Amino acid sequence: MFDSGVGGLAVARALQRLAPAERIVYFADTAWFPYGPRPPAEVRKRAFAITRRLLESEAKLIVVACNTASAAALADLREAFPQVPFVGMVPGVKPAARQSNNRHVVVLATEGTLDSRLLERVVEEFGRGTRVARIVGHGLAEAVERGECDGPRIRARLRGLLESQVAAGADTVVLGCTHYAFLAPAIAAEFPGVAIVDTSEAVARRAFDVLIERDSVSPGPGGLSFIVSQDLAAFLRRVEALGLRREGAVPA
Ligand code: DGL
Repeated sequence: MFDSGVGGLAVARALQRLAPAERIVYFADTAWFPYGPRPPAEVRKRAFAITRRLLESEAKLIVVACNTASAAALADLREAFPQVPFVGMVPGVKPAARQSNNRHVVVLATEGTLDSRLLERVVEEFGRGTRVARIVGHGLAEAVERGECDGPRIRARLRGLLESQVAAGADTVVLGCTHYAFLAPAIAAEFPGVAIVDTSEAVARRAFDVLIERDSVSPGPGGLSFIVSQDLAAFLRRVEALGLRREGAVPA
């Protein structure tokens, strides 16, 4: 599994709960964080390099636990490594459009995701008849990466980003970046009437289903270890603060 930093840990945590016997190797590409503002070609290059590294550790399935990397690289990864099953993130426009009473939703994501063909496609396919506002969560992934998931500063930032859409009738917010899963409690507290769509759990379930379909569920023992491209110690402090147990960790 990989992400630019701690965001994908929401998916790792969900997968550990579902499939505790699986051994998860999580690559945090902290040296290249944030992916959001980078050109898609650059993110794609990182996704390929990380995939090769994870395949060296004998990965049987790769979860692209990052919306920006999924938007930039998922289709190309599948084409380049046809023998490897990939599970990626897709902004939850479908469930959001289904549950929105006002037919007005917000997709909160990075610029890389919001500008992508992937988002365009899901909006075309599932957002018909629904107003889909796209908001770049400037500074949010950076705050989560620092460990700032709530507090007056982050609340003010969330108000600044979401207030006008909510006032205009948006009743559902799609978390279109894995880092934002850690902001869900702050968003819920700040906008109590608004539904939050977080697909981390569904992606973990999909990953486990793929293992079942391919008959490659592990008998155990499971575990969670890390490969980190920069600031290993700082990253591991964040992992522990988020309540995940880790077995091993190495620099990339
Ligand atoms: N976690 C990444 C995502 O899901 C974004 C954070 C970043 O900008 O690196 O899009």
